[in-house]
Amino acid sequence: MKHYLLTAVFIAFSFTVSFAQKFEGLAQTPPMGWNSWNKFACNIDENIIKGVADAMVETGLRDAGYIYLNLDDCWHGERDSLGFIQADPVKFPSGIKALADYVHSKGLKIGIYSDAGRKTCGGRPGSFGHEYQDALQYAKWGIDYLKYDWCDSYDINPVGAYNLMRDALRAAGRPILFSMCEWGSSKPWEWAAETGHMWRTTGDIFNCFDCVDQHPGFAAYGVLQILDMQNGLRKYAGPGHWNDPDMLEVGNGQTVNEDRAHFSMWCMLAAPLILGNDIRSMSQETKDIIMNKEVIAVNQDSLGVQGLRFAVEDGLEFWFKPLAGDDWAFCILNRTTEPREYTIDWQKFNLYDDVAKRFTDFDSKVYDVRNLWTKQAEGNTKKVKAVTIPGHDVVMYRLKVNKKGK
Ligand code: GLA
Repeated sequence: MKHYLLTAVFIAFSFTVSFAQKFEGLAQTPPMGWNSWNKFACNIDENIIKGVADAMVETGLRDAGYIYLNLDDCWHGERDSLGFIQADPVKFPSGIKALADYVHSKGLKIGIYSDAGRKTCGGRPGSFGHEYQDALQYAKWGIDYLKYDWCDSYDINPVGAYNLMRDALRAAGRPILFSMCEWGSSKPWEWAAETGHMWRTTGDIFNCFDCVDQHPGFAAYGVLQILDMQNGLRKYAGPGHWNDPDMLEVGNGQTVNEDRAHFSMWCMLAAPLILGNDIRSMSQETKDIIMNKEVIAVNQDSLGVQGLRFAVEDGLEFWFKPLAGDDWAFCILNRTTEPREYTIDWQKFNLYDDVAKRFTDFDSKVYDVRNLWTKQAEGNTKKVKAVTIPGHDVVMYRLKVNKKGK
């Protein structure tokens, strides 16, 4: 009898362990928000974060969809005598719970950061050996989003480490969006759809449009380099599980053209849109980029299909993203520093998208063309179209199928 009981308990236990799941229903479109790292690195405190929360509301960012306010590395203090992690008492004297309450009172959600290893990349306590305890603490504080990094992980298996934290979050019971940050090292797109809601595909972004910041043992990458590293990954993304080409550098000092191109491409990629600039003091040009509702709508489209690079021609790239209702987003990226003239002959862009299983079909369909940056209607796809694309910039359109075919 005892034997049967033990077997039953064991089966129940295995069932729970092997069928633990990430929280479903989160990140049905790419997550949008702000994160402290790109601008502030380790120099964060509760006043900065509260100021950012205020600015997210006052600038209209929250209402444009940027909902998550995420602390990155260096919020941590020590673990208490029972092993529960505490906030840095100098930088966050009111504690994370009070901060979370403040952020929630603004109609926002709050994110936090940890690491699968013993130490975070900034040398703070990691979650290794404390996963369930950390998840409980985050749930108790009212956290909504966890970015989980991969420093100090030399002796850890990534699948095990990330599934462990997923299970811990699940057990803690609060729906927390799980953002995996293992830099694409173990090809998480191949195994993590059941683990996380998004996964980094590359090493860190570097604040330049076209460069590599090489260090011994690692590198950080410019916008174009990260873009190139997304090749072949689009079939792995979809509602609830996104490829993450890292956070945005818009508003951090690149040219307006470069910022526009960067933002447009992240929208075409259905990438999470996590801002990384100081939104308490941003230029009108930066606001106009990150709050362009029609461009954001391309990113947030309910079909949830990542865009495809259809052709590359002499420094120009031609990108399509299928959208709900038979529409497409179309973007020409000029990788060169010189302005380029180009004549769009739509017939050249008859393509079949094997992820969305859909043809553009310019032979038999007519689309109305809307320029998403000038916000002007620009005729339809019956005629060829001459455009100029400034250096390090894009032109971006929504092609809306014209049911009357006119
Ligand atoms: C890693 C991550 C970055 C950032 C830093 C913090 O480099 O990839 O996004 O979180 O750690 O130390």
